[in-house]
Amino acid sequence: METFKALQVIKAESGFELEFVQKSVTALPEGEVTIRVHYSSLNYKDMLAVQGQKGIAKCYPHTPGIDCAGVVMESHAEGFNVGDEVFVTGFGLGMTTSGGFSEMVRVPAAWVLHKPQGLSLYETMCYGTAGLTAAMCVDSLIQVGITPVLGDVLVSGATGAVATFVIMLLDKLDFSVVAATGKTNAKEYLTDIGAAEVIARSELEQGQEKGLLKERWVAAVDTVGGDILAGILKSICYGGSVACCGMAASPIFSASLFPFILRGINLLGVDSAELPMEVRQQMWQTLSDQWRLPKLETVIQQISLEQLPTFVAKMKSGELMGRVVVRLV
Ligand SMILES: NC(=O)c1ccc[n+]([C@@H]2O[C@H](COP(=O)([O-])OP(=O)(O)OC[C@H]3O[C@@H](n4cnc5c(N)ncnc54)[C@H](OP(=O)(O)O)[C@@H]3O)[C@@H](O)[C@H]2O)c1
Repeated sequence: METFKALQVIKAESGFELEFVQKSVTALPEGEVTIRVHYSSLNYKDMLAVQGQKGIAKCYPHTPGIDCAGVVMESHAEGFNVGDEVFVTGFGLGMTTSGGFSEMVRVPAAWVLHKPQGLSLYETMCYGTAGLTAAMCVDSLIQVGITPVLGDVLVSGATGAVATFVIMLLDKLDFSVVAATGKTNAKEYLTDIGAAEVIARSELEQGQEKGLLKERWVAAVDTVGGDILAGILKSICYGGSVACCGMAASPIFSASLFPFILRGINLLGVDSAELPMEVRQQMWQTLSDQWRLPKLETVIQQISLEQLPTFVAKMKSGELMGRVVVRLV
């Protein structure tokens, strides 16, 4: 394959634009492992890269795509051989280097994982960054002693990709989940994936003038940040915990200290992009085995590279539910 197709973001006079290009293999960045991409997926960060958000892409033109799965075409690294089924999520993929919205990528070997036995290449991208992040959030709550008998767990941004996996995982582990969404048409989707109760996102924005609100949930996973995270903190029961991983509403929040100093609650930060390889491998093993989700297919929309611009626009307008996987074979 001397040339390959990719989607790239260019900085035009009128703003950032998407275009399809045919790239030469010689244009691939440095790295020990060259991968023929079979699947990628659409993540929130990719949408930000398309918009030219500072701090995502190192420079433009840029091919986004923080996830990819495929087959090794060339390797100069021990442990990776031509034909191996591998995948990459996070690190610098689609940020400091050309990403997965492309038929080929070249990456440092330190970013690459062999496909777990229990998953297909396609399934690694069904989970991808969103699934790994969700697993990290759930694991962080379990690590601090949150168990199903203690009470309900709230999940914000509920129809989003990360939250969808959080809800499915919590339900699989017998937690009772309260899903908070801004969508009025999402109740059926959310109860189908395991939510016991669905509430409006606006409920979490009330009582901003108060330092504490009625204790409602023993724990929460927040994917949106901003005033919603501040509101959630005020409603967590004594000794409870909130895993926080996203900023779909805002990366800034102004919080009262009362939930921390009067109820002893914990705010747990979660990052999956730079997660050390050892923890990452362990998490993927768990996702492919004990935490394997039976209804995975029901939350996936599979699209082609050509459909990506439409789906990036849908993500931006907040109309997507679940996870988008991009097929490149
Ligand atoms: N820390 C990490 O390692 C990590 C990894 C992956 C993702 N993330 C972050 O997690 C967040 C979610 O990612 P995702 O892939 O799940 O994105 P997504 O699929 O686009 O989901 C985001 C969801 O947030 C809600 N939302 C959107 N705009 C909102 C607004 N203005 N105010 C309140 N809620 C809003 C919507 O859910 P409802 O309509 O149901 O309310 C939407 O579906 C992003 O900020 C992303 O950057 C972090």
